[in-house]
Amino acid sequence: MAKVLTALQPSGVLHLGNYFGAIEPAVTLQAQHDLTMFVVDYHAITVPQKPDELRRNILFATAAYLACGIDPKKTLLFQQSAVPQHAELAWILQCVARMGELERMTQFKDKAGAKAEKVSVGLFTYPVLMAADILLYDTQTVPVGADQKQHVELARDLAIRFNRDYGETFVVPEPSIRAEGARVMGLDDPTKKMSKSAASAKNYISLLDDEGAILKKVKAAVTDSGAAVRAGEGRPAMTNLLTIYSLVTRRSIKEIENDYLGKGYGDFKADLAEVITLWLKPLQAKIETYLEHEEELVKILDAGAQKARERAERRMKAVRERIGVAL
Ligand code: TYM
Repeated sequence: MAKVLTALQPSGVLHLGNYFGAIEPAVTLQAQHDLTMFVVDYHAITVPQKPDELRRNILFATAAYLACGIDPKKTLLFQQSAVPQHAELAWILQCVARMGELERMTQFKDKAGAKAEKVSVGLFTYPVLMAADILLYDTQTVPVGADQKQHVELARDLAIRFNRDYGETFVVPEPSIRAEGARVMGLDDPTKKMSKSAASAKNYISLLDDEGAILKKVKAAVTDSGAAVRAGEGRPAMTNLLTIYSLVTRRSIKEIENDYLGKGYGDFKADLAEVITLWLKPLQAKIETYLEHEEELVKILDAGAQKARERAERRMKAVRERIGVAL
């Protein structure tokens, strides 16, 4: 069985981009692959976090995974910080990575912007921690949204370099990026990806948004010039909205366009808000039920972490031997 691995940061907001870019592909892959999926709390602290909120967000992310269909009987599900080998391997890989290659990471450049002097060193080296996450588990495939492709490529480069310098140790992973949904764009700016750190909450639809919020955000969404409900070149806003419609209804964009022949943006947006709401309601109810049983969530994470530590330690033992620190 091919080894597949993915992870998400525990932020209070999981949005449609996270769902369609990473969670749904993972749930699909779970049936036929050896899936590892975890909550990367040590990635989250690269930017300031309030401890109480972080704790709540770890539980929320876990509840969301489970509600979306991640089955801990099939999938190795855990919390990153409960497996100390991640931080240990990240340190060793920091000594393999080059400043130049980290300086080329576009996400760091976007996030740090002009404030590079003030952001944490962790934000800069975070792709190395992500490489450790991936390489510890002999991962072959990493389903992610398009924005994470460069980071998975770094993991590949570090695996190849380590294997060259110290002998065959790591499996070289491949990113897996779906054709539709790998880059859900912001509702307020369809030229940039949907993002929880966007300036306005109108940028994204959170998995927790209620009917009223969804309607407001969809109504306020940017559209393209003209009036036709049509996707395509030069129509980034409608392409994005039609893609979202298609993803939540599992109907083709062509079919949906046909339904709106002769109709305008107003009708389309009202229906889009409705289909998103109908799709999200059962998911929200499930998330809430999981969150009501916090001790169950902790139990699931602990059981997963125990297994993950065993697997990770096997790989780390080989790494320590290869680099010469095992006596
Ligand atoms: P994070 O938490 O920012 O995002 C989680 C996943 O959601 C995808 N994603 C999107 N997909 C489509 N459209 C969007 N607008 C959109 N926004 C986000 C991301 O590509 C990602 O797959 N560093 C990672 C987490 C991570 C990880 C790993 C992933 C840590 N270790 C190991 C894979 C393997 C991150 O911050 O993702």
